[in-house]
Amino acid sequence: MGGQLGFMYRQLTFKPKPIPSSTRLDNKVAIITGANAGLGLETSREFISHGLAHLIIAVRDESKGEAARAELLRNVSNDSCRIEVWKVDQADLNGIVAFSERVETLPRLDIVILNAGVKYLNYEKSPSNHEMNVQVNHIGTSLVSLLLIPKLQASARKINAPARLTLVGSEGQFWCSFKEHSAPNVIERLDEQAAFPPAMERYYTTKLMTQLWTAELASRVTSDEVVITTVNPGLCASSLHRHDSSGALNFFLKIFAWTSEQGGHCLAHAATHGTSYVHGAYFSEQKKTEPCSFSTSSQGIKAQKKLWNETIDLLKKECPRASLTQFDKP
Ligand SMILES: NC(=O)c1ccc[n+]([C@@H]2O[C@H](COP(=O)([O-])OP(=O)(O)OC[C@H]3O[C@@H](n4cnc5c(N)ncnc54)[C@H](OP(=O)(O)O)[C@@H]3O)[C@@H](O)[C@H]2O)c1
Repeated sequence: MGGQLGFMYRQLTFKPKPIPSSTRLDNKVAIITGANAGLGLETSREFISHGLAHLIIAVRDESKGEAARAELLRNVSNDSCRIEVWKVDQADLNGIVAFSERVETLPRLDIVILNAGVKYLNYEKSPSNHEMNVQVNHIGTSLVSLLLIPKLQASARKINAPARLTLVGSEGQFWCSFKEHSAPNVIERLDEQAAFPPAMERYYTTKLMTQLWTAELASRVTSDEVVITTVNPGLCASSLHRHDSSGALNFFLKIFAWTSEQGGHCLAHAATHGTSYVHGAYFSEQKKTEPCSFSTSSQGIKAQKKLWNETIDLLKKECPRASLTQFDKP
C-alpha cells in the first residue's frame, strides 16, 4: 500500500527489530554523524552491544557529543569499545575537510552512517548563504560522503572485505514535487527565499536529493570496496521535529511514531545487512525496497546526474581545499 495511508498502516503494524545477535562488529571502526541524539545515538548503542571496537561520534557540538559518550559508557556492556567525539559541522565545508583529514589517520574504517540532518520549516540561511535544509542535508552530507570514500576503499583493500556507507533518507522522498529539478541550476533555485515552500516540502525535497545522490555515488564506486545504501528510518520521536510545533505533527507523533531506538534499528540494519547485492539499495521497514518512482524515471535519472554535476562544481568552487579528483569523471 503506497501513499500516506500506506505509510500510516506500516507505522502502526511494523515494528523495527534490533539487528541479529549473530551480526558481530568486533575489530570494526565506525563513524556515525549526528550521534549525540536521536537515531544516531541509538544506533551507536546498538553497534557497541554487537562488539564494535571503535566508535566515532561525529557532532557539530562537542559538549553534546561528550554527554552522549558519557551516557553510552554508562549504559553499554561492551567496555572494550573505544568511543571518541570528533567535531564536524555540515554547515562548514572547510571544517568537513579537516574532519576528513583526521579520518585519514585512523588505522581502518569499516562503517559510516551519514545520519546528521535538520528539518527547518522556515527559511534560514547557512553562513555560506545556502538554504539550511539544503546546506546540511544535501551539500554537507554530500561532501562528507565524497571525502570519506577513499578511506573506506583503502580499508576494504586492507582487509579484503567491502566497507559500508549508509546515508539516512526518508519516506518524504515520495511526498514532494521537486519541481525545482528543471530549473537551470537546482541548488541556486532552492537557495532563493521566494522559492521556499510551506510546511515539509523542502525537507522532503532534500531527502529526495539524498536518494538521488546515493544512487549516483553507488554507480561511481565499486561494491567490492564500499557497499552504499540509503535508509528510511520511519517517523520517529526525536529532536528532529524541534522547529515544528504544529498540532498535526504532535498528533502524528503520538499515534504513529516509532521510538528513536526503533529508528536506530533501521539504520543499524541498513548499514550491516547483506553484501554487494544491496549496493545502491533503498531500505524501508528493514528491507530492500523500491524508492519513489521519480528517482527511477528518465526525468529522475537526468535530475540525478544534473544534481551530481552541480554539487561537484559548487564544492570545487566553495571548498577548493577538498580533493575531489576521484570524482572528476562525467
Ligand atoms: N525522526 C524522524 O521522524 C525521521 C524520519 C525520517 C528521517 N529522519 C532522518 O534521521 C536522521 C536523524 O534524525 P533524528 O530524528 O535522530 O534527529 P535529531 O535527534 O535532531 O538528530 C539529528 C542530528 O543531526 C545533527 N545536526 C544538525 N545539524 C547539523 C550540522 N550542521 N552539522 C552536523 N550535525 C548536525 C544534530 O546535532 P544537534 O543535536 O547539535 O542539533 C543531531 O545530532 C536525520 O537525517 C533525519 O532527517 C528522521
